Amino acid sequence: MAFGFWLGVFILLSVWPSVRCSDLPKGAIETACRDRYLLVTTQLSFAGNEPRFEAVDADGVHPITKQYGSECGYMFSILPLPGHAELRASYFSCHTDNQDDELFTLRFNLIITAASGVETTYTVNATCSLPLPWSPREVSCEENYMEVSMRSDVSCLYGTTTDAWTAALATAHSSATSTWQVMFQQEGQELIPMSFSEARELGYVFHLTQGRLVFRSPYTPRSVMGSVSMVNGSLVEVVHPILFSRQRWVVMMVDWIVACSTNEGMYDGVQLVWQTPTLLSPLVSGLSGLESSKITMGVDGQLLDEPITAERGYSLDISDTTVQISIPFNAAGGYRKSFVMDNMYHEFYVVRLYYEQIFLDDCGVETRLRLHRPMNTPLLIQNLSIINQTVLEDRVFTVYLGNLSYDVDLVAVKLNGQNFTILEAKKSGLVITMVPQPDSTLHAYILRVPFEDAVVHKLYSTEGLLQFSLDINYTLVILPQEEPYYYLASVVAQFNDVFPPFFNGVCNEESITFLMGHKPFDYLWEVGVGPYLLTPNLAAKRGYIMQNDSKSLTLEVPLFSVGYTYKDINLKQFYGSFEIHSRLPKTLEVTSSLAKACLFQTTEVIVCSTEGVLTVVTDVALAIPGAEPNATFLLDSTCRPQETDDTRVLFSFGLHTCGTRVQVDHQHVTYENEINVEHTIQSATEPVKTRDTASVVTVRCVYPLSDLYKLFAYWRFDADSPGVGTILTRVPVKIFQPTFPPTTLTTTRRPLTSTATSNTGLSPGREMPGIHPRAKYVKVFNRN
Ligand SMILES: *[C@@H]1O[C@H](CO)[C@@H](O)[C@H](O)[C@H]1NC(C)=O
Ligand SMILES: *[C@@H]1O[C@H](CO)[C@@H](O)[C@H](O)[C@H]1NC(C)=O
Ligand SMILES: *[C@@H]1O[C@H](CO)[C@@H](O)[C@H](O)[C@H]1NC(C)=O
Ligand SMILES: *[C@@H]1O[C@H](CO)[C@@H](O)[C@H](O)[C@H]1NC(C)=O
Ligand SMILES: *[C@@H]1O[C@H](CO)[C@@H](O)[C@H](O)[C@H]1NC(C)=O
Ligand SMILES: *[C@@H]1O[C@H](CO)[C@@H](O)[C@H](O)[C@H]1NC(C)=O
Ligand SMILES: *[C@@H]1O[C@H](CO)[C@@H](O)[C@H](O)[C@H]1NC(C)=O
Ligand SMILES: *[C@@H]1O[C@H](CO)[C@@H](O)[C@H](O)[C@H]1NC(C)=O
Ligand SMILES: *[C@@H]1O[C@H](CO)[C@@H](O)[C@H](O)[C@H]1NC(C)=O
Repeated sequence: MAFGFWLGVFILLSVWPSVRCSDLPKGAIETACRDRYLLVTTQLSFAGNEPRFEAVDADGVHPITKQYGSECGYMFSILPLPGHAELRASYFSCHTDNQDDELFTLRFNLIITAASGVETTYTVNATCSLPLPWSPREVSCEENYMEVSMRSDVSCLYGTTTDAWTAALATAHSSATSTWQVMFQQEGQELIPMSFSEARELGYVFHLTQGRLVFRSPYTPRSVMGSVSMVNGSLVEVVHPILFSRQRWVVMMVDWIVACSTNEGMYDGVQLVWQTPTLLSPLVSGLSGLESSKITMGVDGQLLDEPITAERGYSLDISDTTVQISIPFNAAGGYRKSFVMDNMYHEFYVVRLYYEQIFLDDCGVETRLRLHRPMNTPLLIQNLSIINQTVLEDRVFTVYLGNLSYDVDLVAVKLNGQNFTILEAKKSGLVITMVPQPDSTLHAYILRVPFEDAVVHKLYSTEGLLQFSLDINYTLVILPQEEPYYYLASVVAQFNDVFPPFFNGVCNEESITFLMGHKPFDYLWEVGVGPYLLTPNLAAKRGYIMQNDSKSLTLEVPLFSVGYTYKDINLKQFYGSFEIHSRLPKTLEVTSSLAKACLFQTTEVIVCSTEGVLTVVTDVALAIPGAEPNATFLLDSTCRPQETDDTRVLFSFGLHTCGTRVQVDHQHVTYENEINVEHTIQSATEPVKTRDTASVVTVRCVYPLSDLYKLFAYWRFDADSPGVGTILTRVPVKIFQPTFPPTTLTTTRRPLTSTATSNTGLSPGREMPGIHPRAKYVKVFNRN
């Protein structure tokens, strides 16, 4: 059969339309000779939205209206999805020139109305030779009519009960004339004989060709003489005419019947399903027909071989009672359309089923039934699905946008109102991945945005609730028309018990150690010392010992390093305190702090306070062995020590009192005083106090000039930070030991060997020959 079939196709294709206009665009109007009809198609792009056809024959032109088409064998439809209009004209249609049921010539006018209202008419001529020999009986279930043609020599009684036939016979005998008449048999209805023209009035067309009887009926409701019934779950429409005439003394009767399954088909969510009874009674009423029944399916008016339908996923299930055909959504052979409506993705799928069944009727005559059945899904809404795949511990928003059809692309995202195309998102370090969805043709996108990303909204409440939120507005487009639509999603991540870093302070003998255990959101705050951010650099510069690992931060602050404040200094002990705090990086608002005060043993100390008070504890016996500490005084000899013990003195005095000398240079203000000692000369009679004019110890405070602007503006001492204090003693050059770290107080003291007491006239701003800082006594309080 293959060769013959292909030859047939070749011949079909070689029939060209002849139209009046010679320079039509390619494919504008095409014709094809199909098994039992001529197919004329015209592209909508050429023909506009409302093309019309007229059948043309020797009698004139006959507009093909809906009703006229259903009565005369023309099926016209506009099909937006393939994008064309098509006309199927039965070879037995009213205005066909039929030569021996073998050669059919059809003429049409195609009328196209331009937007301007101007009509253009094209002539379409086609001649088809029968591609496939006629079966004895053929039934065509077109979309808008039923047509049966029978070889005129076939005689058989169809599905007629004997009683009914007897009644028909009686009516025929009583009303038969030499002209043919017709009566329609209907369950429980009287038989009414009528002429062909009367039947034509009702929409029924009978005609005789060279060798065949043709009957055509529209479907209900015009088909008043027919009936619709349920046959094994399927709707079947039946029209049963009986023709009769009297030829001399013989009454001739032709029992005709046409039946079509009129099921609409339905969509079950996965596929379009259509079914028909296996035995289309009353066309065939016994099981005899089933044996030889051959069932084939196809689409668009053409049958398909089984391998092709299998490949496309169509299925044809034939049982004793029903034939069921299923075509999956979007299978090849159908047309799918997707579009945006109300900002939602819609789609539907249309398939034009073609079905053929060959069976032997009750009389053993082959019947070939053909059926056209367009089916479509309802309008389907593709609901996207959002899955929040965020894992809090990862601190990355992970959002899955799924159920996207293959023709949908993500082109942009708006994150908390900020636009990103896919390319920009990539550049900004956001990750957008397209992933296929398992077991479907759908795909999905996964968007990853770290909580710490600048676009993420952060909200912190002092109750310890930290919230990250992200509003997403996806811009999707349907390809190829690039129709956009938007999808919104919102994700939130919350953490409880998030508090600023917590410090622990520990007093050591000569330092304070701060401890801070790292917590996940520590990065929200910074650690500060005074106005400064604690960095490894700052720590190194100020001599803090900082250790920072993934678990914790340890900061050891040696006594006397920058940042300490002192109070309650006496000869035994004093308080040194140091403050560390956490603050918000943007506002510098302090969120937690710890000022740790520790009691330290006093050995020697000099403190130049911000209020302009110099407090010093020093060992005078080191400078002058045997010197009486309670015999010391300052430049103003009325200024005596506040406290003394065996060797040490404690002086505390305002920098503008006790004869303190002041010197100002470009950048600094230097205050200097001297601790002198009164010698008691052991004379023979009684001890005589003499004053040694040579100072024992020089104490000095240096403040940056810029810190003291209030002093000059308001005569009030109020430095921004403590001054730098120095204790200087007369030490012979050769004894100078510069190897001690300046901030260490625990080094062994080395007594002075010289007691040289000559007054060097030490005055501010001058070189002080012979006076060198004893390294271990020098405390330098740098600001940074
Ligand atoms: C179509 O056929 C008719 C009659 O056969 C003829 O008059 C007419 O010229 C034909 N038109 C074209 C375009 O061939
Ligand atoms: C339904 O199918 C069964 C076969 O299973 C058949 O016997 C019966 O006649 C059918 N019903 C009609 C109304 O055709
Ligand atoms: C999509 O959502 C609409 C309305 O919410 C619903 O009617 C429809 O059944 C849904 N479609 C699917 C395929 O889930
Ligand atoms: C998304 O598709 C899956 C099948 O791939 C389906 O199970 C799920 O219900 C769909 N979600 C929505 C919202 O339609
Ligand atoms: C984002 O893009 C839209 C159009 O795509 C535009 O109207 C809007 O102004 C943009 N917003 C920002 C913040 O760039
Ligand atoms: C989402 O973005 C589009 C385009 O920028 C905009 O038209 C739409 O209004 C946005 N939707 C919402 C809810 O912000
Ligand atoms: C998303 O997932 C995170 C982590 O599992 C969860 O905390 C959050 O409540 C979820 N829901 C939304 C709407 O973000
Ligand atoms: C300590 O180390 C952590 C990383 O382990 C770092 O985030 C933090 O900034 C460091 N702190 C200081 C003060 O350097
Ligand atoms: C100095 O202290 C000694 C004993 O510690 C005492 O005897 C002496 O009187 C004191 N001298 C003065 C001037 O206070």
